[in-house]
Amino acid sequence: MSEERLNPVLLTFDGRAPFAEALAQQMDMELVPVELHRFPDGESLVRMCTRLAGRDCVVFCTLKNPDSIIFPLLSAAFTARELGARSIGLLAPYLAYMRQDKRFHTGEAVSARPFAHLVSTHFDYLVTVDPHLHRYHRLDALYRVPCTVVSAVPLMAEWIRRNVEKPLLVGPDEESMQWVGAVAEMAGAPFVVLRKIRRGDVDVDIEVPELEAVQGLTPVLVDDILSTGHTLSKTVVALLERGFGAPVCLAVHAVFAGEAERLLAEAGAQRLVTANTIEHASNAVDIAAPIAHALRNYLKSIV
Ligand code: R5P
Repeated sequence: MSEERLNPVLLTFDGRAPFAEALAQQMDMELVPVELHRFPDGESLVRMCTRLAGRDCVVFCTLKNPDSIIFPLLSAAFTARELGARSIGLLAPYLAYMRQDKRFHTGEAVSARPFAHLVSTHFDYLVTVDPHLHRYHRLDALYRVPCTVVSAVPLMAEWIRRNVEKPLLVGPDEESMQWVGAVAEMAGAPFVVLRKIRRGDVDVDIEVPELEAVQGLTPVLVDDILSTGHTLSKTVVALLERGFGAPVCLAVHAVFAGEAERLLAEAGAQRLVTANTIEHASNAVDIAAPIAHALRNYLKSIV
Protein backbone atom coordinates (compact mmCIF):
# COMPACT_ATOMS: atom_id res chain seq x y z
CA MET A 1 0.00 0.00 0.00
CA SER A 2 1.46 3.42 -0.95
CA GLU A 3 2.12 5.84 1.89
CA GLU A 4 0.09 9.08 1.92
CA ARG A 5 2.10 11.98 0.47
CA LEU A 6 2.42 14.80 3.00
CA ASN A 7 2.24 18.41 1.88
CA PRO A 8 5.54 20.28 1.31
CA VAL A 9 7.23 22.10 4.18
CA LEU A 10 8.31 25.74 4.14
CA LEU A 11 11.16 25.93 6.64
CA THR A 12 11.72 29.55 7.43
CA PHE A 13 14.54 31.44 9.06
CA ASP A 14 12.30 34.50 9.22
CA GLY A 15 9.89 33.03 11.73
CA ARG A 16 6.29 33.85 11.00
CA ALA A 17 7.11 36.78 8.71
CA PRO A 18 4.06 37.90 6.69
CA PHE A 19 5.78 36.96 3.42
CA ALA A 20 6.42 33.38 4.56
CA GLU A 21 2.93 33.01 6.03
CA ALA A 22 1.26 34.24 2.84
CA LEU A 23 3.43 32.00 0.67
CA ALA A 24 2.79 28.90 2.79
CA GLN A 25 -0.93 29.57 2.71
CA GLN A 26 -1.02 30.19 -1.07
CA MET A 27 0.92 26.98 -1.69
CA ASP A 28 -0.70 24.77 0.93
CA MET A 29 2.67 24.21 2.61
CA GLU A 30 3.29 23.57 6.28
CA LEU A 31 5.10 26.65 7.67
CA VAL A 32 7.79 25.59 10.11
CA PRO A 33 10.02 28.27 11.65
CA VAL A 34 13.57 26.97 12.05
CA GLU A 35 14.45 27.32 15.73
CA LEU A 36 17.87 28.94 15.99
CA HIS A 37 19.77 28.81 19.27
CA ARG A 38 22.93 30.87 19.71
CA PHE A 39 25.32 29.52 22.33
CA PRO A 40 27.36 31.91 24.51
CA ASP A 41 30.49 31.09 22.50
CA GLY A 42 28.85 32.15 19.22
CA GLU A 43 28.10 28.67 17.88
CA SER A 44 24.58 28.01 16.65
CA LEU A 45 22.13 25.12 16.68
CA VAL A 46 19.12 24.68 14.42
CA ARG A 47 16.05 22.59 15.13
CA MET A 48 13.08 21.82 12.88
CA CYS A 49 10.11 20.52 14.78
CA THR A 50 8.10 18.62 12.22
CA ARG A 51 8.30 15.37 10.33
CA LEU A 52 10.65 15.80 7.35
CA ALA A 53 11.04 12.20 6.18
CA GLY A 54 9.76 11.77 2.63
CA ARG A 55 8.69 15.40 2.31
CA ASP A 56 9.63 18.15 -0.11
CA CYS A 57 11.21 21.02 1.80
CA VAL A 58 11.83 24.61 0.79
CA VAL A 59 14.08 26.63 3.06
CA PHE A 60 13.20 30.32 3.02
CA CYS A 61 16.04 32.56 4.09
CA THR A 62 16.73 36.26 3.72
CA LEU A 63 20.43 36.59 3.00
CA LYS A 64 20.66 40.23 4.04
CA ASN A 65 23.40 39.54 6.61
CA PRO A 66 24.72 36.37 4.98
CA ASP A 67 27.65 35.63 7.29
CA SER A 68 25.40 35.47 10.34
CA ILE A 69 23.07 32.94 8.76
CA ILE A 70 25.06 30.83 6.30
CA PHE A 71 26.16 28.14 8.77
CA PRO A 72 22.67 27.73 10.32
CA LEU A 73 21.23 27.62 6.79
CA LEU A 74 23.61 24.90 5.58
CA SER A 75 23.18 23.03 8.85
CA ALA A 76 19.38 23.05 8.38
CA ALA A 77 19.69 21.71 4.83
CA PHE A 78 22.19 19.05 5.91
CA THR A 79 19.95 17.98 8.80
CA ALA A 80 16.78 17.92 6.69
CA ARG A 81 18.61 15.57 4.31
CA GLU A 82 19.74 13.36 7.25
CA LEU A 83 16.16 13.25 8.51
CA GLY A 84 14.97 11.92 5.16
CA ALA A 85 13.63 14.98 3.28
CA ARG A 86 12.80 14.04 -0.30
CA SER A 87 13.96 17.32 -1.82
CA ILE A 88 15.43 20.52 -0.38
CA GLY A 89 15.18 23.79 -2.29
CA LEU A 90 16.49 27.19 -1.24
CA LEU A 91 14.23 30.21 -1.57
CA ALA A 92 16.53 33.21 -1.15
CA PRO A 93 14.65 36.18 -2.62
CA TYR A 94 17.82 38.27 -2.16
CA LEU A 95 20.92 36.39 -3.24
CA ALA A 96 23.98 37.59 -1.37
CA TYR A 97 27.60 37.71 -2.54
CA MET A 98 26.83 38.36 -6.19
CA ARG A 99 28.71 41.66 -6.38
CA GLN A 100 32.16 40.17 -5.67
CA ASP A 101 32.19 38.51 -9.09
CA LYS A 102 35.83 39.29 -9.88
CA ARG A 103 39.23 39.22 -8.20
CA PHE A 104 39.60 43.00 -7.98
CA HIS A 105 42.87 42.75 -5.99
CA THR A 106 45.57 40.06 -5.88
CA GLY A 107 44.73 37.20 -3.51
CA GLU A 108 41.08 38.15 -3.03
CA ALA A 109 38.24 35.64 -3.09
CA VAL A 110 35.73 35.83 -5.92
CA SER A 111 33.10 35.35 -3.19
CA ALA A 112 30.26 34.62 -5.62
CA ARG A 113 32.00 31.33 -6.42
CA PRO A 114 32.58 29.78 -2.93
CA PHE A 115 29.10 30.95 -1.92
CA ALA A 116 27.56 29.24 -4.96
CA HIS A 117 29.62 26.13 -4.25
CA LEU A 118 28.29 25.85 -0.67
CA VAL A 119 24.67 26.38 -1.71
CA SER A 120 24.98 23.93 -4.62
CA THR A 121 26.40 21.27 -2.31
CA HIS A 122 23.48 21.33 0.12
CA PHE A 123 20.39 22.29 -1.90
CA ASP A 124 18.67 20.67 -4.88
CA TYR A 125 17.59 23.94 -6.50
CA LEU A 126 17.52 27.68 -5.93
CA VAL A 127 14.78 30.25 -6.47
CA THR A 128 15.79 33.89 -6.24
CA VAL A 129 14.80 37.35 -7.45
CA ASP A 130 16.88 39.56 -9.74
CA PRO A 131 20.37 38.50 -8.63
CA HIS A 132 23.19 40.94 -9.40
CA LEU A 133 24.31 39.33 -12.66
CA HIS A 134 27.08 41.52 -13.98
CA ARG A 135 30.27 39.72 -15.00
CA TYR A 136 28.44 36.40 -14.74
CA HIS A 137 25.44 36.62 -17.05
CA ARG A 138 23.66 33.52 -15.79
CA LEU A 139 23.42 31.79 -12.41
CA ASP A 140 24.21 28.40 -13.95
CA ALA A 141 27.72 29.68 -14.65
CA LEU A 142 28.14 29.76 -10.84
CA TYR A 143 25.63 27.29 -9.38
CA ARG A 144 25.67 23.53 -10.07
CA VAL A 145 21.97 23.07 -9.25
CA PRO A 146 18.94 24.28 -11.23
CA CYS A 147 18.19 27.95 -10.55
CA THR A 148 15.11 30.01 -11.29
CA VAL A 149 15.41 33.77 -11.46
CA VAL A 150 12.16 35.57 -10.75
CA SER A 151 12.03 39.07 -12.16
CA ALA A 152 10.56 42.03 -10.32
CA VAL A 153 10.72 44.10 -13.51
CA PRO A 154 7.03 43.78 -14.62
CA LEU A 155 5.81 44.62 -11.11
CA MET A 156 8.16 47.59 -10.80
CA ALA A 157 6.98 48.88 -14.19
CA GLU A 158 3.39 48.50 -13.05
CA TRP A 159 4.13 50.40 -9.83
CA ILE A 160 5.56 53.29 -11.87
CA ARG A 161 2.59 53.34 -14.28
CA ARG A 162 0.20 53.57 -11.34
CA ASN A 163 2.10 56.01 -9.16
CA VAL A 164 4.29 58.40 -11.16
CA GLU A 165 3.16 60.94 -13.72
CA LYS A 166 5.62 61.68 -16.55
CA PRO A 167 8.46 59.52 -15.20
CA LEU A 168 12.05 59.63 -16.38
CA LEU A 169 13.78 56.41 -15.36
CA VAL A 170 17.38 56.87 -14.27
CA GLY A 171 19.98 54.13 -13.85
CA PRO A 172 22.86 55.33 -11.65
CA ASP A 173 25.49 53.23 -13.44
CA GLU A 174 26.02 50.85 -16.33
CA GLU A 175 25.36 47.82 -14.07
CA SER A 176 21.78 49.08 -13.58
CA MET A 177 21.21 49.19 -17.36
CA GLN A 178 19.63 45.70 -17.44
CA TRP A 179 16.95 46.71 -14.92
CA VAL A 180 16.32 50.31 -15.90
CA GLY A 181 16.12 49.48 -19.62
CA ALA A 182 13.65 46.64 -19.06
CA VAL A 183 11.49 48.57 -16.56
CA ALA A 184 11.42 51.61 -18.88
CA GLU A 185 10.29 49.53 -21.84
CA MET A 186 7.44 47.95 -19.85
CA ALA A 187 6.43 51.24 -18.24
CA GLY A 188 6.56 53.02 -21.62
CA ALA A 189 8.86 55.69 -20.18
CA PRO A 190 12.15 57.25 -21.33
CA PHE A 191 15.34 56.37 -19.49
CA VAL A 192 18.93 57.52 -19.06
CA VAL A 193 21.93 55.72 -17.57
CA LEU A 194 24.52 57.71 -15.61
CA ARG A 195 28.13 56.87 -14.81
CA LYS A 196 29.32 55.82 -11.35
CA ILE A 197 32.90 56.08 -10.16
CA ARG A 198 33.36 53.82 -7.12
CA ARG A 199 36.52 54.32 -5.05
CA GLY A 200 35.45 52.31 -2.00
CA ASP A 201 32.47 50.85 -0.11
CA VAL A 202 31.01 54.27 0.67
CA ASP A 203 33.00 56.50 -1.67
CA VAL A 204 31.14 56.96 -4.96
CA ASP A 205 30.64 59.78 -7.44
CA ILE A 206 27.98 60.05 -10.11
CA GLU A 207 28.52 61.73 -13.49
CA VAL A 208 25.40 63.10 -15.16
CA PRO A 209 25.25 63.75 -18.95
CA GLU A 210 23.36 66.63 -20.61
CA LEU A 211 19.67 66.19 -19.65
CA GLU A 212 18.09 69.40 -21.01
CA ALA A 213 15.71 67.47 -23.30
CA VAL A 214 14.08 65.61 -20.40
CA GLN A 215 13.67 68.48 -17.92
CA GLY A 216 10.19 68.57 -16.36
CA LEU A 217 9.90 64.79 -15.99
CA THR A 218 9.92 63.11 -12.55
CA PRO A 219 13.12 61.12 -12.02
CA VAL A 220 12.63 57.55 -10.84
CA LEU A 221 16.01 56.08 -9.91
CA VAL A 222 16.08 52.34 -10.58
CA ASP A 223 18.68 49.98 -9.10
CA ASP A 224 18.80 46.34 -8.05
CA ILE A 225 20.39 46.65 -4.59
CA LEU A 226 19.97 49.59 -2.23
CA SER A 227 22.76 48.92 0.27
CA THR A 228 24.60 51.80 1.95
CA GLY A 229 22.49 54.24 -0.10
CA HIS A 230 25.55 56.15 -1.34
CA THR A 231 24.88 55.34 -5.01
CA LEU A 232 21.29 56.57 -4.95
CA SER A 233 21.82 59.51 -2.58
CA LYS A 234 24.64 60.87 -4.77
CA THR A 235 22.35 60.44 -7.79
CA VAL A 236 19.52 62.27 -6.02
CA VAL A 237 21.81 65.21 -5.22
CA ALA A 238 23.18 65.35 -8.79
CA LEU A 239 19.68 65.46 -10.29
CA LEU A 240 18.40 68.08 -7.84
CA GLU A 241 21.43 70.25 -8.70
CA ARG A 242 20.39 70.04 -12.36
CA GLY A 243 16.91 71.38 -11.61
CA PHE A 244 14.85 68.17 -11.45
CA GLY A 245 12.09 67.64 -8.87
CA ALA A 246 12.63 65.29 -5.92
CA PRO A 247 13.36 61.79 -7.28
CA VAL A 248 11.63 58.55 -6.36
CA CYS A 249 14.11 55.76 -5.51
CA LEU A 250 12.99 52.32 -6.68
CA ALA A 251 15.12 49.27 -5.90
CA VAL A 252 14.53 45.53 -5.88
CA HIS A 253 16.43 44.60 -2.71
CA ALA A 254 16.07 46.70 0.46
CA VAL A 255 19.43 45.83 2.05
CA PHE A 256 19.62 49.25 3.77
CA ALA A 257 23.03 48.86 5.40
CA GLY A 258 24.10 51.45 7.97
CA GLU A 259 22.69 54.94 7.54
CA ALA A 260 21.13 54.44 4.10
CA GLU A 261 17.69 55.78 4.97
CA ARG A 262 19.05 58.90 6.64
CA LEU A 263 21.38 59.57 3.70
CA LEU A 264 18.56 59.32 1.19
CA ALA A 265 16.22 61.52 3.23
CA GLU A 266 18.95 64.17 3.66
CA ALA A 267 19.80 64.01 -0.04
CA GLY A 268 16.18 64.89 -0.87
CA ALA A 269 14.62 61.67 -2.16
CA GLN A 270 10.85 61.98 -2.44
CA ARG A 271 10.01 58.34 -1.71
CA LEU A 272 11.75 54.97 -1.31
CA VAL A 273 10.09 51.97 -2.93
CA THR A 274 11.36 48.38 -2.86
CA ALA A 275 10.17 44.84 -3.57
CA ASN A 276 9.53 42.57 -0.59
CA THR A 277 12.56 40.35 -1.17
CA ILE A 278 13.78 41.75 2.17
CA GLU A 279 11.18 42.93 4.68
CA HIS A 280 11.36 46.72 5.04
CA ALA A 281 9.01 49.68 5.51
CA SER A 282 9.65 50.72 1.88
CA ASN A 283 8.21 47.45 0.45
CA ALA A 284 5.52 48.31 -2.10
CA VAL A 285 6.14 45.76 -4.85
CA ASP A 286 4.84 42.31 -3.91
CA ILE A 287 6.86 39.51 -5.47
CA ALA A 288 5.04 36.59 -3.79
CA ALA A 289 2.94 35.51 -6.81
CA PRO A 290 5.83 34.90 -9.26
CA ILE A 291 7.85 33.24 -6.48
CA ALA A 292 4.95 30.86 -5.74
CA HIS A 293 4.74 30.10 -9.47
CA ALA A 294 8.47 29.22 -9.62
CA LEU A 295 8.26 27.01 -6.52
CA ARG A 296 5.18 25.19 -7.81
CA ASN A 297 7.09 24.29 -10.98
CA TYR A 298 9.87 22.68 -8.93
CA LEU A 299 7.50 20.87 -6.61
CA LYS A 300 5.48 19.52 -9.56
CA SER A 301 8.63 18.28 -11.29
CA ILE A 302 9.78 16.16 -8.31
CA VAL A 303 8.52 12.62 -8.78
C1 R5P B 1 26.09 47.67 -7.73
O1 R5P B 1 26.51 48.03 -8.80
C2 R5P B 1 24.63 47.65 -7.46
O2 R5P B 1 23.90 47.60 -8.64
C3 R5P B 1 24.19 48.84 -6.63
O3 R5P B 1 24.34 50.03 -7.37
C4 R5P B 1 25.01 48.95 -5.38
O4 R5P B 1 25.01 47.73 -4.73
C5 R5P B 1 24.46 50.01 -4.45
O5 R5P B 1 25.25 50.03 -3.31
P1 R5P B 1 25.21 51.23 -2.28
O6 R5P B 1 23.77 51.44 -1.90
O7 R5P B 1 26.06 50.75 -1.14
O8 R5P B 1 25.81 52.41 -2.95
